[in-house]
Amino acid sequence: MKEKIGFGIIGAGLWGEAHARIYSTHPLAQLIAVSDIVEEKARVLAERYGAKRWYADFRRLLENPEVDAVAIVTPDFAHCEPFVAAMEAGKHVIVEKPLATSREDLQAMERAYRSQQDKVRVMVDFHARFSPPLVVAHDMIKRGELGELVSAYYRLNDIIYVPTQMLSWAKHSSILWFLGSHTVDTLRFLVGSEVKRVYSVSSSKVLVKLGIPVPDIYQSILEFENGVIATIENNWIVPNTHPHWNDIKLNVLGSKGMVNMDLTNNQAFERYLEGKSDHPDFLIMPTLHGKPAGFAHESIRDFVERLYSGEEFLATFEDGYRVSAVILALLASAEKRMPQEVDYTL
Ligand SMILES: NC(=O)c1ccc[n+]([C@@H]2O[C@H](COP(=O)([O-])OP(=O)(O)OC[C@H]3O[C@@H](n4cnc5c(N)ncnc54)[C@H](O)[C@@H]3O)[C@@H](O)[C@H]2O)c1
Repeated sequence: MKEKIGFGIIGAGLWGEAHARIYSTHPLAQLIAVSDIVEEKARVLAERYGAKRWYADFRRLLENPEVDAVAIVTPDFAHCEPFVAAMEAGKHVIVEKPLATSREDLQAMERAYRSQQDKVRVMVDFHARFSPPLVVAHDMIKRGELGELVSAYYRLNDIIYVPTQMLSWAKHSSILWFLGSHTVDTLRFLVGSEVKRVYSVSSSKVLVKLGIPVPDIYQSILEFENGVIATIENNWIVPNTHPHWNDIKLNVLGSKGMVNMDLTNNQAFERYLEGKSDHPDFLIMPTLHGKPAGFAHESIRDFVERLYSGEEFLATFEDGYRVSAVILALLASAEKRMPQEVDYTL
């Protein structure tokens, strides 16, 4: 491996900037180039973070021999094309969650990955695996402190600002892809087993009237192979007056113990100013001593470091593939209003 790994970013939006902060500051990384179909966005991000090249076409970025690894940070439904091209170009990849949002994309990505697996490495950015409370719970469960796991409850919701104002492409995704993918992966991480059957019910009353024809909410039951049952809720319509973007509650129950988390609000930190009170972020992506910190940045930093050291990634291509297979089953279940076995063979 070279002294510094050369990085390219495909997708210069909100989350592309989180990647740029790490590649432009990490001592093992160098940000070489940025691509976005809107060339101006690529230029602005490249100039802000010191990359010399920017392109409207990601294929030109992949042709650049200085680029060793790429971050795919395009909208949820647009990961497949740059991923397959990056595999063909022999670049290492960190791809944003969800890995893919259709069976066809998942199949094409699986084929591309398998054909290059001995040459390139892939991580899926399930950054919740770096969230301190979830890692502490994971380690307690592994040590057997909760005894035999019985059940879990996980609610992970967004304020309505996210689908209506933040994401221009919300109608091509859904809360199941956008946050349900984190929910499913976190439970797999904690429970240490795969989901075998799901039952999901959705409701569409609010977003559809705002011109975003996707369900507002999915309430779902997951059955894991090891017998654990989980209830999950994902909704995209929490009122904007909610003090934080996410509404999060997690409970894991075992034969000898239980953990409860209310991760909403960063509620350990309250700020009261004239005319406003809120809960500043200190956990997800704050800047500490001038450096990008928090678990969302930590996940990207870990990609750089494990790429360099050769250690296995904490969230692999297989994790992304399995999570997308579970979400496809949840969507099929919600459509048919029937339980659905998860098909991992696709
Ligand atoms: N890890 C996380 O928790 C997390 C958080 C937020 C977003 N994300 C994920 O990151 C991805 C991007 O989300 P975002 O919020 O940055 O969206 P965004 O809309 O802000 O940015 C996406 C960018 O991709 C560009 N783009 C689209 N197609 C492209 C292509 N073929 N080539 C190059 N650029 C292209 C768009 O012009 C846009 O600038 C999504 O998959 C999202 O789910 C992950």
